[in-house]
Amino acid sequence: MLTEKEVDARIQAIGEQISRDYAGKQPHLVCVLKGGSFFMCELAKRITVPVSLDFMSVSSYGGNTRSSGVVKIVKDLDEPLKDKDVIIVEDIVDSGRTLSYLIELLQQRGPRSIALCTLLDKPERRVVEVNVDYTGFEIPDKFVVGYGLDYQQRYRNLPYIGVVELD
Ligand code: IMP
Ligand code: MG
Repeated sequence: MLTEKEVDARIQAIGEQISRDYAGKQPHLVCVLKGGSFFMCELAKRITVPVSLDFMSVSSYGGNTRSSGVVKIVKDLDEPLKDKDVIIVEDIVDSGRTLSYLIELLQQRGPRSIALCTLLDKPERRVVEVNVDYTGFEIPDKFVVGYGLDYQQRYRNLPYIGVVELD
């Protein structure tokens, strides 16, 4: 669906945008594991203001391709968010359930601001409203893999975004 070159160019542009928007600040990038990890590393390398990083893991999916609607914290952040300018970095916003839950949860920890940055967005699939501040690509309702996204834990390491043909 998207070549390595297209993805890299878009990440470069988002990195420049974030560097401008956060001039004089130190954004705290919160990666949602595991899918967001490839995107966060590439993005962080292209941000020119100082950044700090943290990781968390939530689960809303089993081995399937449909959201269960159940979101559980599997691994919490190491650092408090108090007075930080947080940017949540995700691989994809699909139904929006994971992110709306996560934003509400992290908001309670007193950050100065919270923004959401996602590599991919499938707006057609949205069930819960989420405000996305930075989007790499809006894509159609197809199940995709690569650049951190998996199908049953495989294909995360593909350097491009590919479509899985499910029968
Ligand atoms: P949401 O709560 O439905 O928005 O689900 C978001 C999560 O579902 C993402 O962080 C992914 O882990 C997973 N997901 C949604 N769509 C896809 C896809 O097309 N490929 C791989 N994972 C996906
Ligand atoms: Mg994910």
